Amino acid sequence: MTKQTQAALDDLLKLAERAAQNSYSPYSKFRVGAALRLTNGEIVTGTNVENVSFGLTICAERAALVRAVSQFGPEIRIEAVAIANLNGMPSPPCGACRQVLAEFIQPDAPVVFPSAEGTRTMPFSDVFPLGFEMKLK
Ligand code: THU
Repeated sequence: MTKQTQAALDDLLKLAERAAQNSYSPYSKFRVGAALRLTNGEIVTGTNVENVSFGLTICAERAALVRAVSQFGPEIRIEAVAIANLNGMPSPPCGACRQVLAEFIQPDAPVVFPSAEGTRTMPFSDVFPLGFEMKLK
């Protein structure tokens, strides 16, 4: 990875950290932020929004994605993702978020997330190798 590419991912991670400061997480107290860089050059962030009916909670990644489509339309493509939390814990994207990201992401897009070994960067296709697809005849 070039220094420039790494620097851009570092910047994206900072934006994810900043987004996590807006987390609404009174139940888990786990504050997550996500930042998506789109192929149109825009960056869109999101944070987790919990609900007293716990299953209605929206993850940071999906919050960011829904915001990106809402702002820029259905043609968006995601070229990089950064995820952060303010709890100092590992937080790879959950399975549901991987499936939802798959709809709009480039397979080789780097995904940066906190792991047990520190910050990790993996191509999306490694993070989510066998997503559900539906090819109707
Ligand atoms: N969470 C996310 O925001 N992203 C994930 O990929 C996994 C979990 C949030 C949901 C909930 O508010 C809190 O983290 C604890 O599960």
